[in-house]
Amino acid sequence: APSGALRIGGISAPALHAAYGTPLYVIDELDARERAAELRDAFAAAFAAVGGRTTVYYAGKAFLSTEVARWMIEAGLNIDVCSGGELAVALAADVDPARLGFHGNNKSLSEIDHAVEIGVGAIVLDSVVEIERVAQAAHRHGRVQNVRLRINSGVHASTHEYLATAREDQKFGIPLADAAAAVAAIRSHDSLRFLGLHSHIGSQIFESAGFVEAARRLLALHAELLAGGEVPELNLGGGFGIAYTSADEVTPIARIAADFAEVVAAECARLGIPVPVVAIEPGRAIIGTAGATLYEVGTVKDVSVDERAVRRYVSVDGGMSDNLRTALYKAEYSVRIANRVSDADPALVRVAGKHCESGDIVVQHDYLPGDVSPGDLLAVPATGAYCWSLASNYNYLGRPAVVAVREGRSRVLIRRETEYDLLRRDTGVSSGAEDLD
Ligand code: LLP
Repeated sequence: APSGALRIGGISAPALHAAYGTPLYVIDELDARERAAELRDAFAAAFAAVGGRTTVYYAGKAFLSTEVARWMIEAGLNIDVCSGGELAVALAADVDPARLGFHGNNKSLSEIDHAVEIGVGAIVLDSVVEIERVAQAAHRHGRVQNVRLRINSGVHASTHEYLATAREDQKFGIPLADAAAAVAAIRSHDSLRFLGLHSHIGSQIFESAGFVEAARRLLALHAELLAGGEVPELNLGGGFGIAYTSADEVTPIARIAADFAEVVAAECARLGIPVPVVAIEPGRAIIGTAGATLYEVGTVKDVSVDERAVRRYVSVDGGMSDNLRTALYKAEYSVRIANRVSDADPALVRVAGKHCESGDIVVQHDYLPGDVSPGDLLAVPATGAYCWSLASNYNYLGRPAVVAVREGRSRVLIRRETEYDLLRRDTGVSSGAEDLD
C-alpha cells in the first residue's frame, strides 16, 4: 500500500478499497470489544464500591449483526433489541434469549408473542395497554415473564430535540404520576414478574446531570413500590455521548459510572432501601467510534456562494443513504484523506454525497488537503453507530458492505447490496432477476 495511507485495524485504506470497494463501513473489532469491556468494568467497579451490581445491555439499534452480537455476548454484555427483526438477528447469533431485553413503544402482538414464547429475559413495557398484552401472551405460553416499566421521568436531556426522549411531549413510557397504578396492574398478573423501573432520557449526552436527576426521580418511586413487593432492579438506559469531532468534550465512562453509583448509593441510603441491580443500555458509546466509513472522491467543485465566498464541494460515492445523521440532526463529522499524505495547504471543504438533493451532506465543514481530487479516498470516523442502521436505498443505491478489521485481517460482516438485491422484490421484473447479477 502507498506510504502515508490511513490504516484501520492494521489494514490500509487502499487495500480495503481494493478488496471491498466503497462506500465501505469498516469496524475495528478490538475497539468495539474494548469499549464493551470498558463499560462493563467501569460500571461493575463503581457499583461494587457501593455494594451494588450492574448489568450492561448493548443497544442493538446502534448497529447489529450476528457477529457483533457475539462480540457483545463474549464481553459479558446482554443485548437490547427493539423489534422482531433485531430479535431475529440476536437469535441467529445463538444468543441465549434470557440475555435479551425487548423494547419498543408499539410492539406488535406477534412480536410480543414470539418474545414471550422463546423466553426473552425482560420485556420493557411502554404503555398500560401493553401490560395486558404481555400478561396474556405469558399466560398462553404458561410462562412468568420478567418485565420492566418504562417511565417518562420528565428530565430534559441536553441534546438534539430528536434525541431527547423524556420530555413531556413525546411518545415513550408512562408519566411518573401514573406509574404506581401501572405497577399495581403488573403485580395483579400471576404471569408477570416486575423487575423494576426503566428510564432512557435521550442520546449523545455528555453530562451526568440529566442521568443523575432521572435516577433520583425513579428511585423515589422505586422506594414507594417496595411497600407492595420486590423491586430487584433499576434500568437507567443508554445515551452516553461520543466524540464525533475534536470539538466534542466527552465525559470519561469511569466518571459517568462513578456519578451513577454515587447518586444511587446516596438516594438508597437516604430512602433506607437496598441498592438495586442497576442496568444500563449503551449503544453508541460501544460501537460509535469503532466504525469509520471509506468513500472515493468523484468530483471536486468550487462553488461561489456570494461575491466573496467560494465553497469547495467534494462529492463522494455514498451520502445520506449511508449516513443520514448529518441531514437529519445536523450532526458534525470530520473527514480525512485516507489514501496518501499531502503537503498541500488545507482547504475548507464540504463533503457531499451523490443523491438528488442538496441536503445530502456527509460532513458540513472540515479541512482536506487543497489538492484533494477524484480517485482519492476519504475516511469519516465515528460512523459505527446509527449509520448502517439508518441506511436506506434512496436513489436505488445498494447499502454498503460492513467489514470488520482486526490485527491486519479483514472479513465481511454484511455484504454489499447488489442490483439483484435491489430488484428482487419488484414483482414486475420480467426476466428472472437472477440474470441481473
Ligand atoms: N435504550 C433505549 C431505550 C433507547 O431508545 C436507546 C436509543 C438506547 C438505549 C441507546 O442509546 P445510545 O447509548 O446509543 O445513545 N438515531 C439517533 C439515535 C437514536 C437513539 C435511539 N434510542 C442518532 O443517530 O443519533
